[in-house]
This record gives sequence, C-alpha cells and structure tokens, in this order.
Amino acid sequence: MRILLINGSPKGKRSNSLKLAYSFIKGLENGCTSNKEELSVDELHIASMNIGACKGCFTCWQKTPGRCCINDDMQTVIKKLIRADLILWSFPLYYFNVPGMLKNLIDRQLPMSLPFMSS
Ligand SMILES: Cc1cc2nc3c(=O)[nH]c(=O)nc-3n(C[C@H](O)[C@H](O)[C@H](O)COP(=O)(O)O)c2cc1C
Repeated sequence: MRILLINGSPKGKRSNSLKLAYSFIKGLENGCTSNKEELSVDELHIASMNIGACKGCFTCWQKTPGRCCINDDMQTVIKKLIRADLILWSFPLYYFNVPGMLKNLIDRQLPMSLPFMSS
C-alpha cells in the first residue's frame, strides 16, 4: 500500500498533529505486517514547499485541460496524489478550518477534476 502523508501544519516537522499521524501509520504498519502487505510512506511537508493560491482562472479546465497555469510544486503533489492508495491529511485546526497553506493545496486540485458541464 502506498501511503501519501500530507503535513499541512505551518510548523512543518515540528508539528504536533504530525506526531498523531505518525502514530496512526505505526498502527497501520502493525496491521500490514500481519497481512504481509508492503507499506511505503511518502511525506509532503507543505510548509517547505512552494504552492501558490489558485487564481480561479479555469485555465486548467478550458485552455489547458488538466494543467494549471501556475508552475510550482503542485505538479509534483498531483502526481503523488494520483499514485497513492491512501492519502493521510495531517493538519491542525486554524479557526475551525485547515491552515491557509493547506487550503491552497486543496484548491489547486482543480485540474484533477474533469470539467463536464451542461448549460
Ligand atoms: C491561527 C491559529 C488558529 C487556531 N484555531 C484553532 C481552532 O479553531 N480550534 C482549535 O482547537 N485550535 C486552534 N488553534 C490551535 C492549534 O490547532 C494547535 O496549536 C495545534 O496543536 C497546532 O498543531 P501543529 O503543531 O500540528 O501545527 C489555532 C492556532 C492558530 C495559530
């Protein structure tokens, strides 16, 4: 099983919520060892990545379907999201929501959705 761990804390590797995510993975590993299933974990620490905010231009739906006009680390993130069997979203609450830098990543997933619409 390919696990993608997305750490959305602005504190990066010093994050408290990341510790909880690591414990969760440890539990999974124990379960997988008994099933003899291979488990790999890929970690993304958003705080040390360059992921800009979505411009809302819909270029990724209209001009270049599936491709965002912003050239930053999000291209790598999307490839990893597609490859993963399990995605772990690890983040603290900021005003009962996700931290802004994680919201940027969530919004930038738009090129992964196909724009089938009818008027
Ligand atoms: C700007 C800001 C907003 C916060 N909002 C909330 C909140 O709405 N609810 C809550 O329980 N904690 C809130 N907290 C506390 C964090 O969730 C808490 O410090 C958390 O343990 C930080 O996790 P981290 O170490 O993984 O970044 C907030 C902290 C900050 C800095």
